[in-house]
Amino acid sequence: MDVFREGLFEGRTALITGGGTGIGRGIAEALAAYGARCALMSRRAEHVEPAAADIAGKSGRACLPLVADVRQPEQVEAAVAKVVGTLGRLDIVINAAAGNFLCPASDLTYNGFGAVIDIDTKGTWNVSKAAYDAWLREHGGQFLNISATLHYGGTPAQLHVSAAKAAVDALTRNLAVEWGPQGIRVNAIAPGPIADTEGARRLFPGPIAERLQQVTPTRRLGRVEDIVNLSLFLLSDAASNIHGAIVVSDGGLCLTGSFGALFEALKS
Ligand code: COA
Repeated sequence: MDVFREGLFEGRTALITGGGTGIGRGIAEALAAYGARCALMSRRAEHVEPAAADIAGKSGRACLPLVADVRQPEQVEAAVAKVVGTLGRLDIVINAAAGNFLCPASDLTYNGFGAVIDIDTKGTWNVSKAAYDAWLREHGGQFLNISATLHYGGTPAQLHVSAAKAAVDALTRNLAVEWGPQGIRVNAIAPGPIADTEGARRLFPGPIAERLQQVTPTRRLGRVEDIVNLSLFLLSDAASNIHGAIVVSDGGLCLTGSFGALFEALKS
């Protein structure tokens, strides 16, 4: 779907955590196609290096691969400094890095819970703070956080991610209130199940994906392009009064209350 104008993000620079794969990669590709220069951050060089080369080749825009762990503030600060030093500015920050696995609370270890809180919640804060200190505090800009709908109810085997994403929603709302007056727009997207991502492979093995599709009001799973198009809209000036919002894109699945029941079925 091509409803956005050519050069929409010309002159802007975006940092995308988890930008080498899945939703993060999709957003990075689209921002570059519409004129932005991008930096992709991941723990794994094998995720960001080929992705950055591919995006730069297709878009003709600079795309910087950054190997850094969102859990490590020093690595994050160094990566953000590299973006500003190399690309000259930092207008848009997409917090898309995330960790997940299916595990009932009864089997979840202290470290298992902590690993996901560290990546999703503390990672979002680490990157937001570093980017704010290095650029956005002085110049304004935008944050877009990738959340989830798991915590709208109680989703079996997803305690760790539900807690982590609930906190991401809180970060989104609080930072919108505190940093909005400084010309910084902060929003989040809460995707439902998205096909063809690492998350889907980990969380919705074959038969579950099929059943999710059957109980979703739109009768389809989400696609990366759904989240990409919503991101482009939220990052564009057309959404300049949307602030502190957590926008759901899940085909109405969370309204049905079926998500939890499906995960419960998966356990048995
Ligand atoms: N079930 C239960 N516990 C699990 C688990 C699983 N499938 N996978 C990891 N854990 C636990 C580990 O046992 C460990 O706890 P312990 O020390 O008490 O045993 C803890 O989580 C940390 O695991 P570790 O492998 O050391 O962490 P990591 O930092 O290398 O990996 C994860 C982080 C666990 C989140 C990993 O799944 C990951 O890297 N994910 C990134 C990609 C991803 O999840 N994408 C989908 C996003 S929706």
